[in-house]
Amino acid sequence: MVEVIVPATSANLGPGFDVLGLALNIYNSFEVEEIESGLEIDILQDGGPRPSATENNLVLISAKRLFEEVGFSFKGLKITIKNDVPMGRGLGSSSTAIVGGLMAANELSHANVPKENLFEIAAEIEGHPDNVGPAIFGGFTISYPVDANHRIASYAPSEKLKPLLLIPGTMLETKKARGVLPRDISMGDAVFNISRSSLLVAALLEGNAGLLATAMQDKLHQPYRAPLIPGLLEIIRLVGRIPGAGMALSGAGPSLVCIIDRSEEAHIVEEINQALADIESDQDYSIRQAEFDLEGARVISRN
Ligand code: HSE
Repeated sequence: MVEVIVPATSANLGPGFDVLGLALNIYNSFEVEEIESGLEIDILQDGGPRPSATENNLVLISAKRLFEEVGFSFKGLKITIKNDVPMGRGLGSSSTAIVGGLMAANELSHANVPKENLFEIAAEIEGHPDNVGPAIFGGFTISYPVDANHRIASYAPSEKLKPLLLIPGTMLETKKARGVLPRDISMGDAVFNISRSSLLVAALLEGNAGLLATAMQDKLHQPYRAPLIPGLLEIIRLVGRIPGAGMALSGAGPSLVCIIDRSEEAHIVEEINQALADIESDQDYSIRQAEFDLEGARVISRN
């Protein structure tokens, strides 16, 4: 039996659409065990069991894919999933399943496939690399295509910064949130996002919280997704006025990620609560004062 934990992630961070991401200290756990025969999946969520079908289960699909890649045959599999990462909220819960399945299968088969190759496979299963990257490597990550492959660079964000999450009660399907995006963008908008992404990487590395509100601006996806998330642009605008804070849609939403000056945390949380009270939104956000995860997916036990 192998148990792997995989962190939640926040992708895009505003301007870095399908490129930037970061790992958070909220984890899903995946126990995978070889059994005599059959396939068994148990999911524990909110303290209780949740029924689960084996077909289309991303942990199983990903584990099988790794076993195929390395030529490992198994008799049967039992998978136990403990979910802490909220589902359908733009916090990378499906990426945790893909990465959990790949990592556990890698460990169970003693295949020792390097994380760089697991990342390639995970990005192919997920369809884009910006959630699976930080889920595997931790920290904040920059993924980039080279020919047909995905590569990644990962860095520790400055200790002067910390992430906050605004998590609503409602879910949004990534497919729907990608469906509203335009096929083409203007050169002006592309240049705008390149400027913001570049600034954001510098701000995260040097801990320059004063740059975050500007550095997290985006013109490639948030304006198009705004009609799906009432109050989105207004909240981002109001939070952007708080010194030491920047905000963006987390992944495809509907959660929001805020990166803030750690030393101003209490004051900033108060200001965000005030901003939420001032806007008209039917979303009931809960604020989660998180931390960056710097290690990424890891095996925590093996029997
Ligand atoms: N970059 C992706 C998107 C993340 O915004 O659609 C969601 O998985």
